[in-house]
Amino acid sequence: MKHHIKTLDARFGAQNYHPLPVVLNKGSGVWLWDTDGKKYLDMMSAYSAVSHGHCHPELVEVMHTQAQHLSMCSRAFFSDKLPLLLERLCGLLNYDRALIMNSGAEAIETAIKAARRWGYLKKGIPNDKAEIIVFENNFHGRTVGIISFSSDDGYRHQFGPYLPGFHIAPYGNIEGVEKLINKNTCAVLVEPIQGEAGIVMPPKGWLKKLEQLCRTENVLLICDEIQSGLGRTGTWLASEHEDVKPDAVTLGKALGGGLYPVSALVGREDLMNVFNPGSHGSTFGGNPLACAIAHKAIDIMERDQYLQNSAALGQYFLEKLKEISSPLIKSVRGKGLWIGVDIDPAKKSGRQICEELMDKGILSKETHETVVRFAPPLIITKDEIDYALGIISKVFSA
Ligand SMILES: Cc1ncc(COP(=O)(O)O)c(C=O)c1O
Repeated sequence: MKHHIKTLDARFGAQNYHPLPVVLNKGSGVWLWDTDGKKYLDMMSAYSAVSHGHCHPELVEVMHTQAQHLSMCSRAFFSDKLPLLLERLCGLLNYDRALIMNSGAEAIETAIKAARRWGYLKKGIPNDKAEIIVFENNFHGRTVGIISFSSDDGYRHQFGPYLPGFHIAPYGNIEGVEKLINKNTCAVLVEPIQGEAGIVMPPKGWLKKLEQLCRTENVLLICDEIQSGLGRTGTWLASEHEDVKPDAVTLGKALGGGLYPVSALVGREDLMNVFNPGSHGSTFGGNPLACAIAHKAIDIMERDQYLQNSAALGQYFLEKLKEISSPLIKSVRGKGLWIGVDIDPAKKSGRQICEELMDKGILSKETHETVVRFAPPLIITKDEIDYALGIISKVFSA
């Protein structure tokens, strides 16, 4: 079975991923099972999309009920679900308006369009001259627009020509941004913590300085909270740790409760009201099924205190990982249940470590070859973390 699946993938799939050699067919809570019935602890949560754990029964129930009622009607008509989700998101995060899309990349594209139009309409930037500042090692998705401002050749190579209007500043350095800002700058787009770059945290105070700089220069601050948001770092938004209030944030991943792709741009009035009918949209964006699931996903996070669990157990997990003494580990860092372990590449690759973890029943995935990430569903318990720690210490001491 396992061999057959891998052969089909190799034969018929575009080889745009390099998965670990495990074939999964069941998930429940923090656990996953492969086709041989072997059980694994999920320390990856599908890049934070499965913060609620796999197949959360209440979310499955909402999905089932909504699918039987009305799943899709497009934005040609009102549905009785979308406005409720918009109100819930705006109330939760204290913003004025929201726009629902599907994937994270689409939320970023939405933010770019909003920022550019804001630049023309509200800041008086000459048409087609708007500039956006982004950061080295950013990861915001893989559309042609977004890879145009990636600094990673792996995402860009031979996909040009690229979209103009972006400038890349060094992450965590305020002077670098100051140098790039000019009268045509409409926005700064930033991950408060860089996820795919390896859970990289900027120096303390930097995001706050960035916010102040944006205010002084009349530039929008847009935080990409697609991976860092919705409890992953122990707060609704990672920007809260620095007491920063972006003009808009992008959300995705966990918003879909691990069941359905739902993303959003949520922001303040004068940015969000640049859209007029026809200027943006997506056939599936904001459909009733998506909205019912996302609404329930937020309710569950709040009711079951996911943020508190992420903050408390994340701290515990981080401290325990730091106690592991291993020549393989160069450093351990993280916030909430979002932890990166830097591996010494001269000794072992991140991939090797992930394969060894997999053999012993933990699923994770390296990023940039040298960082192993630990980002379990936010429902994880202390006992489950202790179980994981037992395996992780064995792998790192082998
Ligand atoms: C910070 C961030 N932004 C955007 C994206 C893109 O989201 P999607 O893969 O849903 O398009 C990701 C995905 O990993 C991400 O981590």
